[in-house]
Amino acid sequence: MNDVTLDEVASLAKRRGFIYQGSEIYGGLAGTWDYGPLGVQLKRNIQALWWKTFVEDREDMYGIDAAILMNQNVWKTSGHVSGFHDPLVEDLKTKRRFRADHLLEDNGVSPVGMTLEQMDEAIRGHKLKSPDGNALGEVRQFNMMFKTNVGATADEASISYLRPETAQGMFVNFKNVLDSFSPNMPFGMAQIGKAFRNEIAPRDFIFRVRELEQMEIEYFVHPDHWEKSFDYWLEQQKLFLLALGLPEKKIHQVEIPEEDRAHYSKRSVDTEFDFPFGQKELLGLAYRTNYDLMNHQNASGKNMEYRPKDGGGAFVPHCVEPTFGLDRLVLAVLANSFEVDELHGEKRTVLRLPKHLAPVRAAVSPLLKNKQELVQLARKTYDRLKKELGAVMWDDNGNIGKRYRRQDEIGTPYCVTIDFQTLDDMTVTLRNRDTAEQQRIAIDELLDHLR
Ligand code: GAP
Repeated sequence: MNDVTLDEVASLAKRRGFIYQGSEIYGGLAGTWDYGPLGVQLKRNIQALWWKTFVEDREDMYGIDAAILMNQNVWKTSGHVSGFHDPLVEDLKTKRRFRADHLLEDNGVSPVGMTLEQMDEAIRGHKLKSPDGNALGEVRQFNMMFKTNVGATADEASISYLRPETAQGMFVNFKNVLDSFSPNMPFGMAQIGKAFRNEIAPRDFIFRVRELEQMEIEYFVHPDHWEKSFDYWLEQQKLFLLALGLPEKKIHQVEIPEEDRAHYSKRSVDTEFDFPFGQKELLGLAYRTNYDLMNHQNASGKNMEYRPKDGGGAFVPHCVEPTFGLDRLVLAVLANSFEVDELHGEKRTVLRLPKHLAPVRAAVSPLLKNKQELVQLARKTYDRLKKELGAVMWDDNGNIGKRYRRQDEIGTPYCVTIDFQTLDDMTVTLRNRDTAEQQRIAIDELLDHLR
């Protein structure tokens, strides 16, 4: 368990421009968050690593970017219209709504494997009240999809939904990819994009939100090979978390019992992480069988079969799905990097972000901002580094000690200072975030060093 609190992480994230409350000036909109300049860069660095690892570096992966709005038949066929529910219970006085399973959990009753009726009985049996102390209504199902109408007519035929998972965009394009690329089996499709869920009770900062971002892979296999593929992807998910600098001891792979699996899954393993508020789901892995392709084949009348190139019989492929919640990854990386240590007898807050994820790769400062020679040389250095490295920051506010503290707080791995010695010998001070050590380095070697 990390001893940092979620409040500490959220407050730093807001103060330093990582993540703000959505629509904040109007009092916010529950379950929505806006990524600020540093947050979006951190998120993109994670995304880019994911895309490179699972799409660009592989021969067997086909990336796509499907529309968020899809024909309503997609969601009828996928089972989301009838089955994408969470158990809801209402405060009879205030009409506030809560997740029944969360309410049980918060009161020390495990809801694992419970049906709606059993949750209802448990609430009555334990005489549970709402968090506001009032009586609760009956537990019932609540569909989490956001419904909308496409076009000017609001009739049955115009109904659509904001997608609750990116996965279906891949299933409905399966045949297109087969026709365009004739891939060898096994192969996968990958997508990064927004998904929307009308969560009954969004909570824990960006952990449970209503507008989220997923990075998903649908990996298509012969039905005889799903187990091998499942084990492989479980390992790949763990390796990816390690590549994000998350420690192995905080990562837990948990088998999901049948009664708690999604309606399409024959086997699920969640990868959970030790967040500041406990061990919670970070990633998912599901064996979706040929549930989706078969249903789409039946409903659309389009053939979803794969014909092996060696002349074997055609079949509808089975699918193993590793899914990654991007917002949860951002939160895991932020919380894991957050540390308060002591430096020169003073407390300092430092984000020990892995260097390849840090939103600012280096900060450049002139020692004094009113010394023209220093400023000019610092500016030149900054321009050169920025052109080559991208995310480099100019910082000439306050004294040098304050600048270092500010950069530590946002996780900048290196600070470069142009000082009087630079004018003599063209070396700069390079200060390391983690050790706080300073070394002198030739200005000409700076770029290679930072790279
Ligand atoms: N296509 C499969 C699928 O959507 P899921 O377990 O419902 O499976 C996948 O969601 C991942 O999306 C989760 O492991 C989690 O990381 C993330 N996720 C789901 N709901 C979320 C929410 N309300 N807020 C933030 N992330 C969420």
